[in-house]
Amino acid sequence: PLPIVRTVGALRTRIRGFRQAGETVALVPTMGALHEGHLELAHRAGAACDRVVATLFVNPKQFDRPDDLERYPRTEARDAELLAGAGCHLLFAPPAEEVYPDGFATTVSVAGVTGSMEGAHRPGHFDGVATVVTKLLLQGLPDIAFFGEKDYQQLQTIRRMVRDLDIPVAIEGVPTVREADGLALSSRNRNLTAEQRRIAPALAKTLYDIAARLSGGGVDAGLVLDEGREALLRAGFDSVDYLELRDSANLTPLAQADRPARLLAAAWLGHTRLIDNVPVE
Ligand code: PAJ
Repeated sequence: PLPIVRTVGALRTRIRGFRQAGETVALVPTMGALHEGHLELAHRAGAACDRVVATLFVNPKQFDRPDDLERYPRTEARDAELLAGAGCHLLFAPPAEEVYPDGFATTVSVAGVTGSMEGAHRPGHFDGVATVVTKLLLQGLPDIAFFGEKDYQQLQTIRRMVRDLDIPVAIEGVPTVREADGLALSSRNRNLTAEQRRIAPALAKTLYDIAARLSGGGVDAGLVLDEGREALLRAGFDSVDYLELRDSANLTPLAQADRPARLLAAAWLGHTRLIDNVPVE
């Protein structure tokens, strides 16, 4: 079975052992409730480094809604089995007191790239992500850390933060793993009713449709994005938080896709909020 450590000290002792054997180390941070998307990160990590260390911590600081934190699935034993099957060598699963002991007072806050979309709709979310990811990177000091493009604004935030703070870890982005009907795999998909699950693939479909219309530039994005928002509501989404065309690196708004661009969206099905994004070539 997969060895599990629960303290930073034990994590560092294990990783020191890997280093003394001359091995490279990859880190795969997660909040558990693992699916094939997470396991794809583990497989990529295993292809790139000798040792794969996964982390499992449901980070309270990045949840902006108490009900979302409470409802977040906790399935550690199953997660550990899946990670072992995906070639992981070690799991770091600390309790909250190990990550945020009494008196914890530091926040890592990334400006710019976090200022809209998820950052605007989920106050404090990216401060929570940046703070915990900084800690995980410094705790493990891997050669490479792997993050999914599924959370594209998170990925760009982490890239910015690692550059700004000179954290000596390479950041690798992994393309989104999808169901056969296009729905991006997400731990929150399990909260969908059968009816909502039937509607959910319209999010990816709309993004791909719009990306095709905007690709190559020359088309004004405003109208196309308005039509996309309407298409999502018509498909059965209850509301759309945003649907945006952005520069793929710094996420500034674009009026047309005249440089590497990304379409990003968040929309609600009942109490479940889905996010997705696709590249615009
Ligand atoms: P979590 O939502 O558990 O996701 C862990 C990693 O898996 C993230 O890098 C996420 O982008 C990636 N991922 C999720 N679904 C994916 C999919 N369908 N395809 C590819 N990758 C996918 O993201 C977090 O946790 C947290 O914010 C964390 C970075 C662990 C910090 O707490």
